[in-house]
Amino acid sequence: MPNHTNIYNHEAEQYHLLISKQPNLAPIIEEIKAFNGLDIVDVGAGTGRLTTVLAPHAKSIIALDASDAMLQVTAAKLEKAGLANWTTKVADHRKLPLEDQSADLIVAGWTICYLASTNVQNWRQNLQEVMAEMKRVLRPNGTIIIFETMGTGTETPDPPAFLKEYYSSLVRQYGFSHKWIRTDYEFDSVHQAEELTRFFFGEEIVNQVLEQNRICVPECAGIWWLHR
Ligand SMILES: C[S@@+](CC[C@H](N)C(=O)[O-])C[C@H]1O[C@@H](n2cnc3c(N)ncnc32)[C@H](O)[C@@H]1O
Repeated sequence: MPNHTNIYNHEAEQYHLLISKQPNLAPIIEEIKAFNGLDIVDVGAGTGRLTTVLAPHAKSIIALDASDAMLQVTAAKLEKAGLANWTTKVADHRKLPLEDQSADLIVAGWTICYLASTNVQNWRQNLQEVMAEMKRVLRPNGTIIIFETMGTGTETPDPPAFLKEYYSSLVRQYGFSHKWIRTDYEFDSVHQAEELTRFFFGEEIVNQVLEQNRICVPECAGIWWLHR
């Protein structure tokens, strides 16, 4: 399995190319929370998959991430779009550099998992700290929306074992609602599918791509949301 920390620090553009092959998630977010005119925070924003589609409609948007290299890609895209309602800042999910009750919507895409999978020491404590920080920053009537993987290379949800306890805690302990969607990759060619899946997911998915000559690689994502 490739080293994701290394990717986030040194191969941000390649990561962005990979996720640019997935659907725009703005309509899914809009179904849960109408985001026009809101103050929004994207935690673990990465290269801006969520930030860049929310920013044109937001009152303000703050993109936070542990990796400055990822945020530089986000900032370049927002600048190119001619927007001025945004800031980016390096931060850890457990200590958000934000004021109490300053956001109407917090989104977190494929990121809290890095602190809350059961193969991370103190994952429960990490999750508790992340939840406390998000709730501190959220205004009354605010909403938190979390996306996480439910499996790549599968047409129905099949999450990795080390994420199942985190997912069930979101519902049972923290009161989130849940659904799942397909976030399939539509690559330009089998060669590109091979290259980009090897880069991020490793050989198991590559074998599936090559055996089935795939341009479309199925993926499932879980969505959890909490209205305060
Ligand atoms: C899979 S990427 C997701 C990026 C983006 N949200 C998206 O949907 O494409 C995971 C991101 O989480 C960030 N990250 C991982 N652990 C973090 C932490 N403890 N605090 C802040 N960001 C973190 C990584 O730097 C990386 O940019």
